[in-house]
Amino acid sequence: MSSSSISAKIKIIKGDITRQTTDAIVNAANESLLGGGGVDGAIHRAAGSQLIEECKTLGGCPTGEARITKAYNLPCKYVIHTGGPIWRGGNHGESRLLASCYRNSLELAVENAIKSISFPSISTGVYGFPFEKACLISLGEIQAFLTNHSNLEMVYLVCFSEQDLETCQDLFDRELV
Ligand code: APR
Repeated sequence: MSSSSISAKIKIIKGDITRQTTDAIVNAANESLLGGGGVDGAIHRAAGSQLIEECKTLGGCPTGEARITKAYNLPCKYVIHTGGPIWRGGNHGESRLLASCYRNSLELAVENAIKSISFPSISTGVYGFPFEKACLISLGEIQAFLTNHSNLEMVYLVCFSEQDLETCQDLFDRELV
């Protein structure tokens, strides 16, 4: 697949992950899968109490891995939960673990015949991962995955602020075009 057809499948938007109507949205969760603040809190609030009940049956999720649940009151069909790494300066495997969050979430999406998926900027909030570095990792992993998986039709990176949108879009234009 040409790089231009791959980059046409990636869209960077500003918005709220809980309002996305893609087949799946990704939750920036933690290993317990029992909720939290930020994206995690917003998704659980919007989905309703059935989501935490299903999460409780999963027995947690190691950092870098991914788990899938229904979406209940959310407008999407599935939630893919992945716990990103906490930034500890960059010498503790953080980049490798963040890359595996994206790769494992995409693998799980394709295993479940999901055609469109929305990601927040995993680990760049409470977990302190530098935003630009995280963007380069996410864009690189998504592009590599789309090169080998034509059945995934659209991947959205949902930025929460105008600044994040501009930063990520600039990196995308410079790195992938
Ligand atoms: N929609 C889209 N993006 C959002 C939203 C939202 N509703 N809310 C926050 N964000 C953005 C933040 O601005 C940040 O860029 O998502 C990114 C990730 O921020 P966090 O939610 O803090 O996630 P993370 O840094 O991965 O930390 C995960 O925080 O909420 C807890 O349980 C969670 O322990 C886990 C940790």
